[in-house]
Amino acid sequence: MRVLELAAGVALLATCLSGQEAAVSGAGRAAADKNAISAAALAGSKEDPAAFERGAKLYAANCAGCHGAVARGGVGAPDLVRSVLVLDDEKGILIAPVIRDGRVDQGMPKSSLPDSQIADIVAWLHVQTYAAGHRSTYAFQDVLTGNAKKGEAYFNGAGGCHTCHSPTGDLKGIGAKYDGFTLQARWLQPRGGRGGRGGASARSAIKVTVTPLSGPPVTGTLDRVDDFSVSLRDAGGDYHSFTRMGDVPKVEIRDPLKGHTDLLSKYSDADIHNMTAYLVTLK
Ligand code: HEC
Ligand code: HEC
Repeated sequence: MRVLELAAGVALLATCLSGQEAAVSGAGRAAADKNAISAAALAGSKEDPAAFERGAKLYAANCAGCHGAVARGGVGAPDLVRSVLVLDDEKGILIAPVIRDGRVDQGMPKSSLPDSQIADIVAWLHVQTYAAGHRSTYAFQDVLTGNAKKGEAYFNGAGGCHTCHSPTGDLKGIGAKYDGFTLQARWLQPRGGRGGRGGASARSAIKVTVTPLSGPPVTGTLDRVDDFSVSLRDAGGDYHSFTRMGDVPKVEIRDPLKGHTDLLSKYSDADIHNMTAYLVTLK
């Protein structure tokens, strides 16, 4: 029943969308803007116009050769405007690792661009997806187009999800807990981003062990850390704060979500679709 309602919603959205898309690219062509982006799309996307401008040049120089001049895909390289990973991105958290690390086996090279330039390219990409109208409407389509069986295989195989999760244990009922859009954001980025309003749980909290020069190590949940100090709350709820000077005291930080962060650069669009389709079945 729910699926039927969603399907009807998608059909409706698709109708609205095609009109909107035509209007935007029409305006772009009229302005002879080779990026086919109207000023309205730029404003609506809320991206910084200066970053967008810089990003356009950086994209043209570093990415267009493979992904095409307007990111609609090129020889052997995918369409980035319809990429789920790009659509799900907030502030580069998903895209930046792919740019930095590449997917060398699949033909996407590593890049040594500095973070500021990656951020500019991300801003440019977000304006492209906004202009095409995909950013607000894609989520329902993903959930419907993925292959749950393949998602399950990825969960228990290449994705390695089963090493930390179980569909009958901690993830039981996850498909009923969130709508498909939120669920996708949750598993891509459990700590934040879109739909990540759930906040930090005890299981996902970052742990830290501080070993002073004299005295025993102190372990607990990280409160904050910078070059000058580190503070934590121990299991008994007591707060500890230490002044830092270079390597003293020794500070070891463990992020339980590192597994997720490491995986981000490995997912393909199909992996993302399939996984979300699988997770929604865990009712
Ligand atoms: C030499 C060709 C090449 C260049 C240059 C290149 N890419 Fe790629 N890119 C690829 C290929 C091929 C893939 C698909 C990899 C795969 O199948 O997982 C890809 C994948 C991606 C993805 C993941 C898309 C998804 O949905 O999974 C993103 C994002 C991306 N590229 C962005 C960029 C950006 C931004 C630049 C410029 C800084 C860039 N690429 C430069 C070839 C390239
Ligand atoms: C190295 C361990 C590890 C791996 C591997 C891992 N996860 Fe997680 N995942 C976690 C932790 C820890 C959390 C945070 C749980 C919490 O906050 O209660 C989490 C959170 C989640 C959530 C959000 C749960 C919620 O209730 O909001 C989902 C969904 C999820 N992971 C799915 C996956 C999928 C799918 C994969 C494989 C592609 C995967 N995880 C791989 C450790 C891992």
